[in-house]
Amino acid sequence: MHHAALTIDPAFRIGEVDPRLYGSFVEHLGRCVYTGIYEPGHPSADEHGFRRDVAELVRQLGVPVLRYPGGNFVSGYNWEDGIGPRTERPRRLDLAWRSIESNEVGVDEFVGWCRRVGSEPMMAVNLGTRGVDAARSLLEYTNHPSGTYWSDLRRKHGSPDPYGIKLWCLGNEMDGPWQTGFTTAREYGRLAAQTAQAMRQVDPSIELVACGSSGSGMPTFGTWEATMLAETYDLVDYVSLHSYYQEHDGDRDSFLASAVDLDRFIESVVATCDHVRAAGKHRKRINLSVDEWNVWYQSRFVGQERLDWAEAPRLIEDTYSVVDAVVVGDLLISLLRHADRVKVGCLAQLVNVIAPIRSEPGGPAWVQPTYHPFALTSRHGRGTVLRVEPTGPVQETARHGEVPKLTATAVRHDESGAVTLFAVNRDQREPLALDVDLRACGDLVGGEVTGEHVVLHDDADPEATNTAEAPERVTPSRLGGVTVDGGRASLVLPPLSWNMIRLTTG
Ligand code: AHR
Repeated sequence: MHHAALTIDPAFRIGEVDPRLYGSFVEHLGRCVYTGIYEPGHPSADEHGFRRDVAELVRQLGVPVLRYPGGNFVSGYNWEDGIGPRTERPRRLDLAWRSIESNEVGVDEFVGWCRRVGSEPMMAVNLGTRGVDAARSLLEYTNHPSGTYWSDLRRKHGSPDPYGIKLWCLGNEMDGPWQTGFTTAREYGRLAAQTAQAMRQVDPSIELVACGSSGSGMPTFGTWEATMLAETYDLVDYVSLHSYYQEHDGDRDSFLASAVDLDRFIESVVATCDHVRAAGKHRKRINLSVDEWNVWYQSRFVGQERLDWAEAPRLIEDTYSVVDAVVVGDLLISLLRHADRVKVGCLAQLVNVIAPIRSEPGGPAWVQPTYHPFALTSRHGRGTVLRVEPTGPVQETARHGEVPKLTATAVRHDESGAVTLFAVNRDQREPLALDVDLRACGDLVGGEVTGEHVVLHDDADPEATNTAEAPERVTPSRLGGVTVDGGRASLVLPPLSWNMIRLTTG
């Protein structure tokens, strides 16, 4: 058995968790919207045509913010197509996914659904085929109280109160050649700055996300951020990062260390933002919005030319395993470890499309293994992230070099003083004995401490999945209680496992 140790000290604070770190993403792509969240003929449909079974799973997942309506889709989207009487809404070609968009669901329906599932919308504007004018009209439609063309139209469509949408994305992945209207960093920076300025004139209270690179592997990564921010720095609040991971050629050790790559990506973007800050003598800091992240087996995705203008086709409906869930839990640990600068995160996506929730048309909805670490981290990872620096064994990986076998972070609940430790054992074969030094956590030393250790792993079959027929094949389990003795706790983390250890008093 390997051994590792860490110390939890409330004095070593990284930062407050912004609840929006636990966001997700709903794109008009495949069956995320149609037969995912929305299916009027389904037995569980509510009076608005949205599935109650899916909505309940979304509520339990705990996603305070939902990015919408894309993704690549937004770069060809006319938001006006999705408002007003449904029978008059146009059917359009969606160039991004070579599908037919019926426009049955638009901004009004989405905002209403968001509120019913306890989330806030994070809207993206189209900077691919449109620009300043469409963006400022959409914002006037959603956020202006009344007495103007667009705000009165919203009222006429049944929403007397403005939606007050706070968070807005200035386009999507504008550096990617696959993006409708892709462009250069300087051109995008100018357009984003002009759009940001007009949008702030409509509603100065909004927060704006500028497009960073669509991946750290892009040839323009780094210079894109620096050039784009030179144009936009004072007008935007966040830079976006997108990052997807998969196992390549059976190299599981590298896949299990994907969070090391996310750490480096985040730290590089922080460095670039701070370089532009220094060079431009700006006061404010730009924070990060990791608004697309997940495991995605992109190598299994058929090329676009093979898609054939279907309506709500089955696209990128990846089935996730225990291994994928451990990686998702580890990626969340990486986001938390950077909570001082990462303020928004969106697990891409929410339903059916590379998603923690699956649904069948006319049939059941169920959750994938990746749902569990996300839901538990979202529920218990609220408060202040504490800096823990584990010491322990390392392993060599082909893609990321030498990486620690143990990765961990701790979050202290500000009112109750409860501490939750999230930890991953990346070793595929050996359990890891972990000593936790809690002597600095006054509340947790001496008094009555309740310890709970929840784990997601499957020694016999790490590739186990959930299906419509066996929706609970993979669920987290409780290991025995955790005892704190003299301010120290000892635990064993199973091989290839995601762990949550909760320590509460009383
Ligand atoms: O999430 C799927 C796609 O991945 C999004 O549409 C796009 O932004 C990214 O490339």
